[in-house]
Order: sequence, then structure tokens, then C-alpha cells
Amino acid sequence: MQDCYFCAMFKKPATKINIAIDGYSGCGKSTLAIDLAECLRYIYLDSGAMYRAVTLFFQQTHWDYRNPQQLQSALSEISIRFERNHQSAILLLNDRDVSSEIRNMKVTAQVSEIAKISAIRKFLVAKQKKSAAKKGVIMEGRDIGTVVLPNAEYKLFLTADTEVRVERRFLQLQQMGQIVDRGEIRKNLEDRDRIDSTREDSPLKCAEDSLILDTSNMDTLEQRNFVLRDLEKKFPRISNFCL
Ligand code: DC
Repeated sequence: MQDCYFCAMFKKPATKINIAIDGYSGCGKSTLAIDLAECLRYIYLDSGAMYRAVTLFFQQTHWDYRNPQQLQSALSEISIRFERNHQSAILLLNDRDVSSEIRNMKVTAQVSEIAKISAIRKFLVAKQKKSAAKKGVIMEGRDIGTVVLPNAEYKLFLTADTEVRVERRFLQLQQMGQIVDRGEIRKNLEDRDRIDSTREDSPLKCAEDSLILDTSNMDTLEQRNFVLRDLEKKFPRISNFCL
């Protein structure tokens, strides 16, 4: 008897790859990465959340990150873990759920400064590389395709018009109950883009082998389906439950 379509699909040994998603702030990297991870049953890793957690740690403790000795001692006190909680992933900083706190404007305003520091990048990049060692990971950030996972089998670089990004971030913050002025969001996005792409250590840039996707005129479903179709073309044995 011949297998039905779904039996055949489940029997197919799936190809596990790593997917790197980079781009400017507010281009929709997280939503796309979460959607893809759900469809492909991959692990989603938000590297920006890790930089945010380190920022929060320094804001809430006495350590001075500008002092190299204190910085090293402080890093040895930091534990960062992701855990699944029902539908979403939560981030635990020293066993405390800080998933919401790391999204506040105080952290957002300082995170790019913290992310410039090489010792902090080294500390987090080692964790990020380790978590992708077994493949089947979708990681998003600024230096994933260039530094963290330069051998990722599939790389995306997202862009979008500034005004579209401002509106998306505004709605996101509004949903989280944070009332922020659009002008403040625009300034923060522009400041972070500038700091992230001009820093000395692993600046934000598009890897040569990345596919560039302008999401300005695409909704989240269009983005997801575009990428799944492209993945299916390039990796026919990738398990895909959504299309
Ligand atoms: O993705 P996000 O907006 O949550 O990231 C917060 C900041 O962290 C971002 O402005 C720059 C920094 N970051 C980084 O330098 N490298 C990464 N791989 C991810 C984020």
C-alpha cells in the first residue's frame, strides 16, 4: 500500500540546518524567526534578548562595566537561560524571569552601548555558538550570519523603511502596555542602527551569502511563506508542516 502524503513526509529523514537572521532594529526579525521555528519545529534563539539581559544586569547591580576587572567579575555572576513557557520562550537572568523587563525603554536606550563591549560580545557569542552546535536552530541578531554562525546553511538579512519600522515598534510597545511617543521610537531606532553598524567589534552588516528581504510591504504571513518556499526549493528535505 502506498503511503499517504503525510505518512511519506513524516518518514522522510529531515535535513536539519541552522538559519541566521540579521537586520536593523524593528524589521520584523523576531516575528519571522518565531513563525519559522514553529513551522519547522526548530529552536528559536533571540540573541538581542541576551544583550538586553546583560544590560539589565548592569543597570540593577553595582558593577561598573567600564572597569575591565569589574566587568570580568560581573560576567562570571551572570547566568542566562531560555525556557519554554506554554507558547512562548522566557528569558531567565540568574533564574529570574526578565522577559518583559528587558523590553522597557531604559534597557532599549542603553543596550547598543553595552553591545559594543568586546568582552561582553565574547561571553555571549560563545553561548550562542554552543546552542546551535546540534543544528535545527533559528537565531536572530546583528552578527549571526557574519560572526556567530558564519557557516549557517541559510542566511537572511531583513530591511524595512524607517517609518514602517517605527509603526511596528509603536504597536508592539502599545500591546505591551508601554506608551511611547513615535518620535522617541524613531530616535532610538536610528541611534541603535548607527551604533550597531559602526561599532568596531562585529558591526551589523549583511553577510555576502545572505538573502536580502525588504519587509516594508509584506505582512508576517507573506514573509513566512516566502521564506518557507525558498527553503523548500533550496533544501527539499527540510521538514515543513505549514505550507
Ligand atoms: O534585537 P534587539 O533589538 O532586541 O537587540 C538589542 C540590541 O542588542 C541591538 O540594538 C544591538 C544588540 N545586538 C547585537 O549587538 N548583536 C546581536 N547579535 C543582537 C543584538
